[in-house]
Order: sequence, then structure tokens, then C-alpha cells
Amino acid sequence: MHWKPDRSSHLTIHTQIIEWIKSRIDRGDWLIGTKLPTQRHLAELLGVNRSTINNVMEELKAAGLIESKIGSGTYVSNNSWNVLLSKSQPNWQQHIEMSIHKANYHTIQLINDYEQKEDIIRLGTGELSPDLLPSKKIEESLKEIQLDGRAIGYSEPQGSKKLRRILSDYLNKRGIQANIDNILIVSGALQTLQLVSLGLLEENSIIFQEAPSYLNSIHTFQSAGMNMIAVHRNAELKSTLRNIKKKKQSLFYCSPTLQNPSGGNWSMEERQNFYDTCKELKIPIIEDDVYHELLFEQSLRPTLKSIDDSGLVLYLGSVSKTLSPGLRIGWVVGPEAVIKRLADIKMQTDYGSSAISQEIVSYFLSSGMYETHLSDLREKLKERAEFTERILAENFSDIATWKKPKGGFYIWLRFNKAIVNKQLFLNLIKRNILINPGYIYDSTDYHHIRLSYAYASFEELETGLAILKEETEKYFC
Ligand SMILES: Cc1ncc(COP(=O)(O)O)c(C=O)c1O
Repeated sequence: MHWKPDRSSHLTIHTQIIEWIKSRIDRGDWLIGTKLPTQRHLAELLGVNRSTINNVMEELKAAGLIESKIGSGTYVSNNSWNVLLSKSQPNWQQHIEMSIHKANYHTIQLINDYEQKEDIIRLGTGELSPDLLPSKKIEESLKEIQLDGRAIGYSEPQGSKKLRRILSDYLNKRGIQANIDNILIVSGALQTLQLVSLGLLEENSIIFQEAPSYLNSIHTFQSAGMNMIAVHRNAELKSTLRNIKKKKQSLFYCSPTLQNPSGGNWSMEERQNFYDTCKELKIPIIEDDVYHELLFEQSLRPTLKSIDDSGLVLYLGSVSKTLSPGLRIGWVVGPEAVIKRLADIKMQTDYGSSAISQEIVSYFLSSGMYETHLSDLREKLKERAEFTERILAENFSDIATWKKPKGGFYIWLRFNKAIVNKQLFLNLIKRNILINPGYIYDSTDYHHIRLSYAYASFEELETGLAILKEETEKYFC
């Protein structure tokens, strides 16, 4: 909020502030129900006396634009848009509330807002710290990349052929048989979930997943009217799936390697059993594998896709967790007909992913720079994981448990009591600490925090975890 009243204007300060507030409401910047900043805060922001703000508020209340709620604050009133020039304005609030896509959880909206604050310590962020991103190397690569006109035009529906060829080689080396017709380049793995929900499923389809799950922190399938069902991978898995599935369309979303948020990894036997079960029941699988290359121990695990002899698995990869999330490049591997269908929806959505980003990823993969960068990155993440674990061992052993991370970004920290609620989240925000509480990955979970050692600096991890300890141990006295 950069606006301040103009003291040289012929209009009084009072009138200018009234007009400014009206225009914010009129433009929809402050929607019906928005809580206004306190009078003291507004006076500070606008550099005026508190009494001026008080007079402004009284006038706006009298006009029916805002209303006070005792003990709670001042809000834009329900009637405000009628009072303003609403005859010529659409009711955006109604549009927002009635629209198809669900809003993010309030907690996630707060995380997205607070992540932008300068002095916040981000203990949960699912992103590499800026100093782990190879920005200089990407900059240098731009000098090497040759762009002919075609390379920077709209690309083919399935994405740049060059990148798909390179990816095909890269994936084949990892045991995933994918020729270029089996690959679709997407604007981040997240886009695939959107494309699948729009292009492969009918309303009321069932999405099986494990709990906790990354899928619960986004609303892609929920917004498309799908039923999300969490199941355990135990001896009863087959009968559970069979009973629930009945005649409905269904799909299993999973992450057998470095699952987000738990960091869990399935054994080879678990992978085979799971695959066999889904194959028998004809349940397609989305294998989300975006963290796999960050396993600390170099030997990669066999993917479900690599044992897929029936075209059951849609395999997701991305450079977001390894090279740069800002490039927005991911890929999905699957049967040709499915890839064509998803590509068709993608063309109707964004006409293809960024051509420049595809060139950069092609360059990194084909020059070997990607693999060199990965091995360096794994070392750095491992160092951060060990550092974080040392702090946990010294300070949290009495109140929480965790497993040694095998790679990726996260420690799934479990408190011995169910204390991880919205209040704890807000208390920590007040102290400039941002966490990802477990309940955004499983709405019934108040025990866990997804702790990320990938984003905050060593110093911030130390300070942040000390404050986390202070705020959580209060519940254990
Ligand atoms: C498991 C998982 N899948 C997909 C994504 C989205 O990745 P992208 O940036 O490639 O869209 C994320 C990002 O947090 C993730 O954790």
C-alpha cells in the first residue's frame, strides 16, 4: 500500500482518504467482508493523525460502506457495492464464491503471502534456497544456446522435439522406456494433474492416495468434483480398492520415492505388489517422481514406470526441485493415446510450455551439466539435512520423533502430542517463522510439521528451530 494523501492537493486530506477507500472497495481490492487495517495502522501507513482516520471511518460507516463488529474490527459491509456505483459493476464476490475452482486453504494462502516477507524464516518451503539454484550457470548457458526462429515460436503440441529426444535418452538410461511420442512437456508437473483431471476423468471419479499427500495441499482434483480417498498399502489393499472402486472411474496417485511430505520410500517388493494390484484391478497410476534424483545414496530405485508392461502408469518428472522451479518445465510419460489427449487439452490451455525454458533444459541435460549439478546438489542437501538433524537431536528428542531423511528436502517431524494446529501456525508467524503444518497434507493430522532443510540458511535453521522449540515445548509443560 504505497498511496499517501497529497498535501498540496486542493482536496482536504479527509476527502482524499474517503475517495481512496471508496476506490479500493469499488475496484474490488477490498472485497465485501475484508477486514480493514486498524485505525492506528492506517494512520501510520498514510502519515496522518489518528483523529483524521477516526472521522473518515465514522463517515464511511454512516454511508453504509463499512461496519464495525464488536471486539473484532472494521469490515467492508455487505451493502458496500450497492452503495457504490454497483449498478455498473459485476458482483465479483459472487463470481468468486460460485466459481468451479476451490480456493486454497487459508493456511496455504497465508504461507504464500508471508513467504514474500523479507525477514521471515521459511522452515517449510518446498523449494531450493536461491544459493542452491545454478543461476550463474543458467545465465552462461544462454550464451551457448542457439535460437533459430522455430525454436522460439509456439512449439509442437507435445513440446520441443529436441527436448523430448534428450529426455527419452535420459529416461531410458533410468530404465523407463519412453520414445518421443510417449512424452509430453508440461509447464511444471503440477500442470499434468490439471490436465489429467480435465482430460481423463469424469466427475465423481475416485482418486486414491496415501495419507498424508501433496495432493491435499492443492485442490486440482477436488475442484473437478473428484472423490479423494486415502488408503493404506497393507495386506487388505486389493479388497479395499475393489470394494470402493466398484464401477467408478478411478486412479491412484502416489510417490514411491521421496514422498512429499513424509519423505517415505517403498521397497522393491512394495512397488511390485502395488503395481500388480493396480494392474489386476485396472486402476491407472500417476507416479509423481519429482524428487527421485535427490536421493542421497546415488543408486536410483526402480520406478513403477520401469516395471510397467501394460501402459498403466503416467510418470511425472520435473526440473523444479533440481534445477529451477521458475523455468516451469516438467514432463509426463505415458501411452501415446493418453499423451495425445493431454497435449490437446494443454494446447487449449496455454499453447505449449515456454520455448526458452525448453531450450535451457535441453542444454543442461544434453551437455551433462544437469548430472554434474545434481551430484553437487545432493551433497549440499545432505549437509543441510545432517545439520538440521543435529539441531533436532539436541532440542526435540523429548517432544518429537522423525526419520533420517534419505534425500529430497523434508523431515516429517512428529510431535508426541497433537499440537500442530492453526493457532501454533499463527503464533509462529507472529515470531516471523513460517511452517508447513501437517494438516494441509492430511486434514486430520495435528501431529506433524513438514520441515524443509532446503530453503532456509544454516543460521536461519538454527534460529527458526530455536523459536519452534520455544513455541512447541509450552504444550508439554
Ligand atoms: C510431489 C510434488 N509434485 C509436483 C510438484 C509440482 O512441481 P512443478 O513445480 O514441477 O509443477 C511439487 C511441488 O511442490 C511436489 O512436491
